[in-house]
Amino acid sequence: MKTSLLLLPLVAVSMLAANPAQAQAPSVGQRLAQSACAQCHSFDKGAPHGVGPNLYGLLGKPAAGGAGFTYSKQYVDAMKGKTWDRSLLDKWLTDTQSVAPGSTMAYFQDDPKKRAALIEYMQSLK
Ligand code: HEC
Repeated sequence: MKTSLLLLPLVAVSMLAANPAQAQAPSVGQRLAQSACAQCHSFDKGAPHGVGPNLYGLLGKPAAGGAGFTYSKQYVDAMKGKTWDRSLLDKWLTDTQSVAPGSTMAYFQDDPKKRAALIEYMQSLK
């Protein structure tokens, strides 16, 4: 009896300590975005465009829809009428030039797990 009374608060304290640490750890997708995309793109709501457009809340939006960003003519022509969904984003990240030949963004990611992690992160921004 004495032992279990002593152990209970210890368990409660260690559970409390574990949770905030998990919430703060950036996801794989967020880390990839920071290392591979953030030099050109912002991901925060209302943040200014960089070399590329702000990508906050992209999924569900029309392609080339970033207000105030000047897209290349090749990109605008190739993306006309397209809406960003997971499948289009997966193709874009696999090879931007096969989706929009001549686009000013050149990027290839062969690893489907890394693409999925990036897409997961971008979908969480809304
Ligand atoms: C060297 C700069 C650069 C890097 C790095 C870069 N991009 Fe881009 N991105 C651009 C530019 C420039 C455009 C506009 C393309 C055009 O107009 O042809 C663009 C366009 C896009 C678009 C289309 C947005 C829209 O409004 O239709 C998406 C999505 C995108 N980038 C995602 C990413 C992701 C995800 C990464 C990281 C894996 C990344 N980009 C890395 C420069 C970059």
